[in-house]
Amino acid sequence: STPPVNVTVTGAGGQIGYALLFRIASGQLLGRETPVRLRLLEIPPGLRAAEGTALELEDGAYPLLHGIDVTDDARAAFDGVNIALLVGARPRGPGMERSDLLEANGAIFGPQGEAINAGAADDVRVLVVGNPANTNALIASAHAPDISAERFTAMTRLDHNRAVAQLARHLHVPVRAIDGVVIWGNHSASQYPDITHATVDGRPVTDLVDERWLTDEFIPRVAKRGAEIIDVRGSSSAASAASAAIDHIHDWVNGTGERWTSAAIVSDGSYGVPEGLVSSFPVRSVDGAWRIVPGLAIDAFSRERIDASVAELVAERDAVRALGLL
Ligand code: NAI
Repeated sequence: STPPVNVTVTGAGGQIGYALLFRIASGQLLGRETPVRLRLLEIPPGLRAAEGTALELEDGAYPLLHGIDVTDDARAAFDGVNIALLVGARPRGPGMERSDLLEANGAIFGPQGEAINAGAADDVRVLVVGNPANTNALIASAHAPDISAERFTAMTRLDHNRAVAQLARHLHVPVRAIDGVVIWGNHSASQYPDITHATVDGRPVTDLVDERWLTDEFIPRVAKRGAEIIDVRGSSSAASAASAAIDHIHDWVNGTGERWTSAAIVSDGSYGVPEGLVSSFPVRSVDGAWRIVPGLAIDAFSRERIDASVAELVAERDAVRALGLL
């Protein structure tokens, strides 16, 4: 029988954790043949909530769930880890400057990177969900010198899924008919949802939508969807974020075939994105690794938007470097 895969979820007592863990336990992350062992990492104020979630996981009597540990010790949480979902992060508090936010999160993702470096399995895959996700992934990776930077990724799949869904709705087609949507850059309001390469059943989307809808409705809607959810739901996206995290890891492990998706991965210099930045690209997953879709023509409008988001990533990187976090 297949040995269990060690999956560690940080911030397990939070709202994304609550939406994520039951899906992992039921087999939606890795398939219904693969048993999992869950490790839930929290900080002391979140431990009780994580323990409560662990009790409910037990009550699910999931045949694939081979054990649950709850801890506030990062070394224990990441020992032998195959899949690390880094969800817990420090939210922006009142009066907090951007540099304060980066520093507070550096204090989380630096030590977690070290713990992953010390104990992770050779095939470890890391997905950072906690914001600022791209730069948190960069920090964690920098603290894990023995692990390939390709193994540290950040989540833009929620943005990607939002873009696909908005397009499908506008064009009255099933989501499955759409391919070739790209989220470029940072998981922030500066992100660029690009449909210039998108197709609907093989037809270019650019033949089907007008430019005003694209610039005035689609792009801001996708980029500001998080705020819309908070406004309507009364709290931030949780189940959709958990769902996107499942999609990201599922595709990374199982492959995408020819279809594209979006993921923030370490740049190899493609598309003018400075090497080493963790930036969102059009990707396929092949043989268990993300590959940037090569050779796309980038028009002037796209170039400007990509450059603006990448400039924000460079500024975040420079700020954390100045703080000694890289
Ligand atoms: P939440 O506040 O409900 O839960 C976060 C949990 O993380 C809390 O229980 C907290 O105790 C824990 N935590 C804080 N520091 C920790 C540490 N050092 N180690 C382990 N656990 C720690 O927040 P929620 O809604 O679950 O969101 C989590 C993060 O995901 C936030 O940073 C949010 O901005 C981000 N997010 C990212 C998205 C993306 O698309 N990349 C989408 C939605 C949310």
